[in-house]
Amino acid sequence: MKILVTGGAGFIGSHTLIELYKAGHSAVVVDNLYNSNPEALRRVAEIIGIESIPFYQTDIRDRAGLEKVFAEHQFDACIHFAGLKAVGESVEKPLEYYENNMNGTFVLLDVMRKHGCKNIIFSSSATVYGDPAQIPITEACPKGHCTNPYGQTKSMLEEVLMDVQKADNEWNVVLLRYFNPIGAHESGRIGEDPNGIPNNLMPYITQVAVGKRKELGVFGNDYPTHDGTGVRDYIHVVDLATAHVCALKAIEKKCGIGIYNVGTGHGYSVLDVVNAFIKVNGVDVPYSIKPRRAGDIATCYCDPAKAKAELGWEAQFGIEEMCRDSWNWQRKNPNGYRG
Ligand code: NAD
Ligand code: UFG
Repeated sequence: MKILVTGGAGFIGSHTLIELYKAGHSAVVVDNLYNSNPEALRRVAEIIGIESIPFYQTDIRDRAGLEKVFAEHQFDACIHFAGLKAVGESVEKPLEYYENNMNGTFVLLDVMRKHGCKNIIFSSSATVYGDPAQIPITEACPKGHCTNPYGQTKSMLEEVLMDVQKADNEWNVVLLRYFNPIGAHESGRIGEDPNGIPNNLMPYITQVAVGKRKELGVFGNDYPTHDGTGVRDYIHVVDLATAHVCALKAIEKKCGIGIYNVGTGHGYSVLDVVNAFIKVNGVDVPYSIKPRRAGDIATCYCDPAKAKAELGWEAQFGIEEMCRDSWNWQRKNPNGYRG
């Protein structure tokens, strides 16, 4: 299939491009490079062994720009990664988040419809469950109250996409609710490259390990978990990437609506991750306990059985490989794509 990949220069998009080509698909990337570097696409092409990935530096809110892309290519489906994703920033800049994520998706859907491309995989998030009603979280678990505008955009866009499919059953919509992606491609050529101080656990750990930051702050050790620190379902980004390839097969079979958790089903605490990282990589990660971070929940991990049963997808990598590959990327690229 020929796939439009919005946000394809980003962390998850770049890894997904490799798995798409491995599975025999081709892709065109649209990205405004707000949170990414074109060097990622150059390296993706190098890993795949092609000259370049077709790329448009276009904002998905730019209708004329998107029209041009659709005029030049006929797409079978879109994988829609483009969006702003920093939880804390979304609390400070709600309008920017609503405007980018909602409007961007509205323009994209409208242009897709106009050009007869009615297949989409949407990057949703475990955040839609809020403080989950049950653990492990199944897809039947009710969506919860999202405590931040970022989460609200994911939850609302899920509703929008379901309404679009309900109104016109030529659409096939797969909502993938990602848990916590970490890790990197085994080559160490591509990986997560956050701007400024990392918000997320693994990039913070790797920046401490490489000497860019003094110590990790562990946000709270008084949660009702086995060691008091927050528990999450970390998933290797390459496993997450292959879930999109499996979702495309469901789209080919005209799935209508599909909603899937994409996680491993295992919960690891902050200290479990720190200790696994130290053990696997033989590097030190100094840390100290800090107060809880506002908006955090104690425990979040999924039951991934539905994705296995219906998409034939399940995670292959464990926490050791995730720690190994995150470190391999960071130590080879201490300043990310900035050299
Ligand atoms: P990322 O920031 O690395 O990638 C997103 C890409 O979208 C970036 O390259 C950015 O430049 C681009 N982009 C943003 N707004 C755009 C616009 N208006 N037009 C064109 N391009 C635009 O993030 P990621 O971690 O790869 O996440 C990909 C998707 O998965 C996002 O939608 C994110 O919300 C979702 N998600 C991520 C996580 C996570 O922890 N990384 C968890 C759940 C869901
Ligand atoms: N943590 C620390 N110190 C840090 C960073 C994080 O102790 O410096 C802790 C957090 O308190 C939490 C755990 O590590 O217990 C994971 O935190 P992350 O920020 O890495 O991930 P979250 O689970 O908070 O959120 C992530 C994404 C969201 C997404 C959510 C569910 O940032 O966008 O996963 O998919 F919605």
